[in-house]
Amino acid sequence: MKYKVIAPGRVNLIGEHTDYNQGFVLPAAIGLFLELTCESKQGRNITATAEGLGVPEIFSLDTLAPVIRDPLWIDYLKGVCWALEKAGHLLSGADISIHSNLPIGSGLSSSAALELATAKALTAANGLEIPLSELALICQQAENEFVKVRCGIMDQYAVALGRKNHALLLDCRSLDYKYIPLSLGKHCLLIIDSRVERSLGSSVYNRRREECEETVRRLSAISKKEFNSLREVTLDDLKECCAYLPDILYRRGRFVVEENIRVQEAAAALQGEDLLSFGYFMKRSHAGLRDLYEVSCPELDLIVDTVVPVNGVLGARMTGAGFGGCALVLLERDVVAAVTRQIEAAFTAMNWCKPYFYTVEIVQGIRLVEIP
Ligand code: GLA
Repeated sequence: MKYKVIAPGRVNLIGEHTDYNQGFVLPAAIGLFLELTCESKQGRNITATAEGLGVPEIFSLDTLAPVIRDPLWIDYLKGVCWALEKAGHLLSGADISIHSNLPIGSGLSSSAALELATAKALTAANGLEIPLSELALICQQAENEFVKVRCGIMDQYAVALGRKNHALLLDCRSLDYKYIPLSLGKHCLLIIDSRVERSLGSSVYNRRREECEETVRRLSAISKKEFNSLREVTLDDLKECCAYLPDILYRRGRFVVEENIRVQEAAAALQGEDLLSFGYFMKRSHAGLRDLYEVSCPELDLIVDTVVPVNGVLGARMTGAGFGGCALVLLERDVVAAVTRQIEAAFTAMNWCKPYFYTVEIVQGIRLVEIP
């Protein structure tokens, strides 16, 4: 039996860099997809071909070891095999082929889509039934321990559990989640790929995580309270310790604490169909990511600065890890064309290559199709 898995990318509406701080996130699965076809075979060899990414890769399930260099696309797939077997799910060999219209390395979770598609297809091909939430955790483990990117759980959950026309409000500490309807009316979501390539493997992402951990350690020592994560810290805690905390850690901590509050306020606004307020929170989130967390870049800032004053635009922010990648704009459908032209003109004036634009639908998470 052959299996095909269709895995969407995701866009994060708000709640950036909060997942690995045990906080709240509000992503949604988007209508850009990675398709993976898988047929099991005897033995322990996996052959994987990805359209446009060179010659087929062949590896044995018996010789998998975590990477010690910058990761390649095949490492995500290997990592999932490794993590599945580590969790006690024995796999047989397989032939895998991948086809995708999800831009790679743009902050739309092409890695999580590849991980989840691999996990879902291989478990189906091996007759294993594992709940999607568990597969998401296995995929996160693959990325953390095999690929060595210390990502949180947001992307894997969004790709696995997204729901059509809904955002996923996820508590990354308890892993409780609920769906919030996205009633956009005359508005839509425009994703703008700055085409500045970002690599999560780059040490900057991991460094942010370390800075947050260091902030928690210092806050606990200074305040004599036992904090386990920034999720437990309040703005008052930060203010009280401000004088004893290095400025950079204070700013990282403040962003995360404020962003957690924003996610909950923004989710409530969305629930109440108050898109104006939602747009306001998006703008505040971007300002924090730019000034306090320092993960934006000139191209993303230019996009946000260009679109925010336009009539009909409710909000804009960078989305995903940052350091390049995509911005997200909430705007009236009628002004998409004008906004697109303005950004293209602004980029041309800077001599930067033209960004890519996607007006995306919000779709259901991963889907498995059996091919007889
Ligand atoms: C990447 C990671 C996520 C999350 C975001 C930032 O997408 O994979 O876990 O940390 O960055 O919000």
